[in-house]
Amino acid sequence: MKIQIINGPNLNLLGVREPTIYGSGTFTEFFETLKSKYPTVEFEYFQSNTEGCLIDKIHEVGFDCDGIVLNAGAYTHTSVALLDAIKAVTAPVIEVHISNVHCREEFRHHSMISSGCKGVICGFGLDSYRLAVEAILNFRQ
Ligand code: DQA
Repeated sequence: MKIQIINGPNLNLLGVREPTIYGSGTFTEFFETLKSKYPTVEFEYFQSNTEGCLIDKIHEVGFDCDGIVLNAGAYTHTSVALLDAIKAVTAPVIEVHISNVHCREEFRHHSMISSGCKGVICGFGLDSYRLAVEAILNFRQ
C-alpha cells in the first residue's frame, strides 16, 4: 500500500504559520507519528509552494500509488490546472484541510478541486490527514 501526501503553498510553515488556525506542531513531527501508526503503509511526502511542481508530482505518482492525500492550500480555491491534474490520473485523491474552511472567509468556501476528488476532509487539524489515510485504507481493502 503506497500513499502519497502532497502539501501545497505555505504548508512548509506549519508550526510557525498562524498557530491559532493551523496548530503549533510541524508537519515533520506529525509525519513521523503517522508513519509509526501505519507501519505497513509506504508513505511518501512532498511539499511545494509552486503550482506546476504540485501538478508534476500528481502526474508522477498518480498512476502508481494507491491514493493521494492532497492539501492544496490556497490553490484549492483557484486552480483549474490542479483539478485537471487530479482528473487525469488514476489514483484516488482525497482533499484535506487542517482548518474548517467553511467557518472561515467566504473565498475559502469554494474548492476548485473537490469535484475531481474522491472525498474531502477538513477541520480536524493535522488529524485530517490521518482520517484521509483511514479512508484510503478502507476503500482499497
Ligand atoms: C488550508 C486552507 C486554505 O484555505 C489555506 O489557503 C491553506 C490551508 C487548510 O489546510 O486549512 O493554506 O488548506
